[in-house]
Amino acid sequence: MEVFKNPADLRKFLSQQKNKANTVGFVPTMGALHKGHISLIDEARKENDLTVASIFVNPLQFNNPRDLELYPRTIEHDLKMLEQAGCELVFLPSVEDIYRDKPLLKMSFGSLEEVMEGRHRPGHFNGVGIIVSKLFHYVLPDRAYFGQKDLQQFAIIRQMVRDLSFPVSLKCCPIIREEDGLAMSSRNVRLSPEKRAVAPRIYQSLKIAEDSLRSGVEEARNAALSFLNSYPDIQPEYFEICDAETLQPIKDVKEHGSIVICIAAYLDGVRLIDNILISIRTI
Ligand code: PAF
Repeated sequence: MEVFKNPADLRKFLSQQKNKANTVGFVPTMGALHKGHISLIDEARKENDLTVASIFVNPLQFNNPRDLELYPRTIEHDLKMLEQAGCELVFLPSVEDIYRDKPLLKMSFGSLEEVMEGRHRPGHFNGVGIIVSKLFHYVLPDRAYFGQKDLQQFAIIRQMVRDLSFPVSLKCCPIIREEDGLAMSSRNVRLSPEKRAVAPRIYQSLKIAEDSLRSGVEEARNAALSFLNSYPDIQPEYFEICDAETLQPIKDVKEHGSIVICIAAYLDGVRLIDNILISIRTI
C-alpha cells in the first residue's frame, strides 16, 4: 500500500493511472477507522481497479473546537486496517497542505441543510463541501463511497456533485452496526463502558418509531421520545421523520415514497447520530 502525503504527488500519480484507463474508487475518511469504513473499501475494491482512501481530520467541518480536539486519531491502526483490507493507496495530507490559504468560498445547500445536522452544526456542511471538492480534485475518482450513517452529508454531496458537474458517481453504503444495534462510529470509543451499555437504546428508539408509523408521524415520534425519556443519560438533540430525498420533516407517510427516521443525541458528552431508511411499501 502506497501512502502519499503531498497533494501534487498524489494527483500526478493518479492522473498517470487514469491515462492507463484504470478506474479509481475513493473512500474519504477522517480516520479512527472501524468496520463501517472497511465495508466502503470492500465496495470500492469490487467496482474499481484502484482503491484510494484519504485520512484527514478536516478542521473546517467542526463547529465545536472541543469536538475537533477530542476527535480520535489512530493513524498507525488505520493504516494497518487499510492495508489488510487491500486498499492500494492512502492520501494523508497535513492541514497546511490542504488549507495553506483559508478558503473564502462559502458553500450553502438551501433547504437540504436547514434541518438536522445543518441546523444544529452551523458551518458544518460548508466544511464538508469544501473538503470533499478538494479531495475530488486531488484524487480524480470515478466513484466515491460514503456511509448511510451520515445520510444528510450524502444528500449534500450528491447535490454538490450535480450542481458543479463533478465527473464522479456516488454510492451510499448501508450502516454497519455492532451486535447490539449501535451504529459503528469513530466517536463510540469515547463512551465509558457504562454509557456504552446504554448506547444501543438510540437505535432502539428508531425502531420504536418505525413500528409506530402506522399510527401516524407525530405518534411515532412521541413513542420514540417517551422511550428515550426512560434513559436520562441520552439527551436527544433532534428526532426527525423526513422524506428520504428532500430531508424535510413529513406529516403524512402516505404522501412520500421513502422516508428516513433520524436522531442525534448526546451520551457521555459524545454526540452520536443514527438513522433508518424505510420504503413506504414496508409500512
Ligand atoms: O464522513 C466523514 O468522515 C467526513 O465528513 C468526510 C466525508 C471524510 C469529509 O471530511
